[in-house]
Amino acid sequence: MRGIILSGGSGSRLSPLTKITSKQLLPIYNKPMIYYPLHTLIQAGIKEILIIVAPERAGDYLNLLGSGKDFGVKFTYEIQDEPKGLAEAFLIGENFIDDEDVAMILGDNIFEDNFSKEINSFKGGGKVFVKKVPDPERFGVVKFNKEEKIETIVEKPKNWISDFAVTGLYVYDSRVVEIAKSIKPSKRGELEITDINNWYLQKSELEAAKVEGLWLDAGTFDSLLAAQNVAKEKLADKMSF
Ligand code: TTP
Repeated sequence: MRGIILSGGSGSRLSPLTKITSKQLLPIYNKPMIYYPLHTLIQAGIKEILIIVAPERAGDYLNLLGSGKDFGVKFTYEIQDEPKGLAEAFLIGENFIDDEDVAMILGDNIFEDNFSKEINSFKGGGKVFVKKVPDPERFGVVKFNKEEKIETIVEKPKNWISDFAVTGLYVYDSRVVEIAKSIKPSKRGELEITDINNWYLQKSELEAAKVEGLWLDAGTFDSLLAAQNVAKEKLADKMSF
C-alpha cells in the first residue's frame, strides 16, 4: 500500500494566514496540521508516501519534512500547479502508484481513529470512510440501502439524502489512475473524487467504513480553532512524533 497526502489547494478561506504558508502547515496546537494525516498513514504501516503540494509552498514542505528518515518512511514530492480537484492526485501520482494499492488522505483532515485494520484488510476496489455530520450538503454524501451497502454517492446534494459525509481518506486499487484519466472536470472545473467513487460503485466494488472517532477538517477559522482545542485535549499526546 502506497500513501498520498494531498496538500495543495489555495486555503483562501484562511487568508491572510495562508498568504505566507500553506494551510496544512499551520499549527494545530503544538504540531503542523499535516502531522495528523501523516500520522494516520504511518500508523497504518504505510512506508512510501507521496506529498502533493502547491508550487509556491514546496520549499516549506521540504524544510519541515525532508526525506522522511526522521519519520521512518520515505517521502516523494510532486507539485500540483493549480487546484484542479482531488482526483488529480491520481494523475500526478501515476508513476508513484505504479501497480500498487493507494491510500489518499487530505492534508487538512484530522482523524482520531486508527485505520490500520481497514487499510490492511483492503482487497481491491475502492473504500471510503464516512461519518455522520450535521451539514451533509457541504460534502460528498453516501446513502446506504437496507443491507448497509452503498446505494448512491452524491457530491454536495442540494436535497437531503443522508447524514453520512465522505471524509478525506480514500483507498483504491491501482485502477484508480486509469479511472482518473477517464473522468471529465465538473461544472466547477475540478476532477471530482465522487466520479471516481461512482465508477467503483457502478461495478459494485465500492465499500464504506464508518469513522468512529473524531473527524475534523481545519479549513475555516472556526474549524481551525476547534481543531486546536481538540488536539490539545485529546490528540496531541497520542502522536508518535
Ligand atoms: P478545500 O478545503 O476544498 O480547498 P482549499 O484547501 O484550497 O481551501 P479554500 O476552499 O479555503 O480555498 O480542499 C480540501 C483539501 O484538499 C485541502 O487539504 C487542500 C486539498 N486540495 C488539493 O490539494 N488540491 C486540489 O485541487 C483541491 C481541490 C484540494
